[in-house]
Amino acid sequence: MTTRMIIDTDPGIDDAMAIHYAAADPAIEILGLTTVFGNVFVEQATRNALRLLEMAGIDAPVAEGAAKPLAMPLSPPSHRVHGDEGFGDIPAAEPRGKAVAQSAAEFLVQTCADNPGEVVICAIGPLTNLALALRLDPSIAQTVKKVVIMGGAVETAGNITPHAEANIYHDPHAAAEVFAAGWPVVLVGLDVTHEITCPASDFDLVRENAPRIGGFIKDISEFYLRFYESVGKFGGCSLHDPAAVIAAAHPQYFTTKNVQLTVVASGEAQGQTVASPAADSPAVEVCLGVEAAAVKALFINQFKLLD
Ligand code: RIB
Ligand code: CA
Repeated sequence: MTTRMIIDTDPGIDDAMAIHYAAADPAIEILGLTTVFGNVFVEQATRNALRLLEMAGIDAPVAEGAAKPLAMPLSPPSHRVHGDEGFGDIPAAEPRGKAVAQSAAEFLVQTCADNPGEVVICAIGPLTNLALALRLDPSIAQTVKKVVIMGGAVETAGNITPHAEANIYHDPHAAAEVFAAGWPVVLVGLDVTHEITCPASDFDLVRENAPRIGGFIKDISEFYLRFYESVGKFGGCSLHDPAAVIAAAHPQYFTTKNVQLTVVASGEAQGQTVASPAADSPAVEVCLGVEAAAVKALFINQFKLLD
């Protein structure tokens, strides 16, 4: 069963790993990428998204999205985590192609309307584009098949602050609208992504499996691993975004619980995702368990299929 996927992304090192994984997995059809601010400026995200699809040989559209959050001022990009251009130390490279004229929100709405019940939106950046799509045409909540989000931290601490995971932190208002929309949402948060860590030796295997694409992934992982070491994490980097793509196409590796969530919109706990049984919002399927070794092996071995 093929998962027909739009990836909403702020590439970004782990985004790049996720997109290359999706391109390599025969169970996934990439219908397009939509870009958003976050790890980098949205213009950089669009350039990087075009480059990633060209590297992977995938002929799919890229639609540029939000340059800033719904209501808050734009936070500085996470360049210390992902590099000034989003791919660690690798210099910016101009893509051959260009983004389509549609905005990300228009592309999300149109693609789901043209393929009712078939499209999985995998959101691995701030949720601004998804909120804008809901505002543009609320019927996307009925036409989408499923929304799988890398974000949140429900029974564990945050990463950008002790309370919040970065994607939710960067636009908590958008996250609240996304969680309240009534479409089927699976949340792949730090509760599970912090269980899936890759040291440098894992990226050596990825490079051995696919010298060209795997070599790129190895190169960008080095900057990412240095950041993790700079904050005292020496066991490897978390496969945040690849875990969300894998959960979208291979949910059997994850255990979930239906939880009603509220999002803290401001203050010290901005972006915190709080289990709120009394809330009148729809439940979200929160991933609380993962077969981490199996997910990591799937990630590493998928690249054997490439040249
Ligand atoms: O918290 C991790 C998330 O924030 C990932 O999507 C990473 O790319 C950053 O966007
Ligand atoms: Ca991301």
